[in-house]
Amino acid sequence: MSTSSEGAPLLPHPAQRPLALCRKEEYYLFSAGQVFVFIAVISVLIWFLHYDTGLDWNNADCAGKPCVFNYHPPMMVLGFLAFGYQGIMSWRMLPDGLSHQTKKFIHLSVQVSGFVLAVVGIVAVFKFHNQHQPPIANLYSLHSWLGLVAMILWGLQVVGAVVSFISGVVPVENRVSFVPIHKHMGVVLYLLALVVMLLGIQEKLGFYQGDKAYAKLTPISQLGNIMGLSIVAIFSVCTTLMIPRMQQEAATDS
Ligand code: HEM
Repeated sequence: MSTSSEGAPLLPHPAQRPLALCRKEEYYLFSAGQVFVFIAVISVLIWFLHYDTGLDWNNADCAGKPCVFNYHPPMMVLGFLAFGYQGIMSWRMLPDGLSHQTKKFIHLSVQVSGFVLAVVGIVAVFKFHNQHQPPIANLYSLHSWLGLVAMILWGLQVVGAVVSFISGVVPVENRVSFVPIHKHMGVVLYLLALVVMLLGIQEKLGFYQGDKAYAKLTPISQLGNIMGLSIVAIFSVCTTLMIPRMQQEAATDS
């Protein structure tokens, strides 16, 4: 092993260091993440379709009746959490034999579909606030502010990717230098969305406290808590899978 002038052993350059996980371990971790995504999706559906009042796009009065708000959490979890997970992992986890173009097409289609679902979820909650009698103020909570930031960044991320990588108007050298920014933004944005969801779950569970239902650990509280645990697990899977590879790619580029 090579040593420094003081005789201390030198670590290899980051680009030459082996990744913390081998390919097989990456697949195991990715699959564990899929299980947590599935648990979160099932939990949110049971919560709002079975235990809460269910869905009605044209009703803003949730007292005992299906209503438009109940579209918001399921659409956000499906769009941001579930589609986002498939989209962000697709480059890494799709079989190595697929062409770059095919991977690009799958990544873009999944991300755009997830974004559309999330937009429906956001429209639902604004519609609920505006049409409620009396109207409810928009954007009063930390959840809603961070949520809006996440939506705007995701929109910019989608537009930036289409303009840079699909439209063909951006010169190749600029396209190449935009890739690390796009990757970094994608991971930061996804982790932000997971935090936003945790805040949204906690806020909604708090609203049930009127009849002390939350303090009683009801089925709804349990579903919310299971979702929270799954989201933290997905957070751990994403950081463990994405960050070492991004560090190695950055070191290789430098
Ligand atoms: C990444 C996912 C999410 C985003 C980007 C998001 C974004 C937002 C935004 C922008 C609002 C404000 C709408 C307005 O002011 O009219 C809002 C409201 C709300 N959201 Fe979410 N949300 C997400 C997920 C969730 C989840 C999973 C839940 C609960 C399980 C939830 C519960 C709520 C509640 C209770 C409100 C109404 C109160 C408020 O405005 O804070 N959200 N959300």
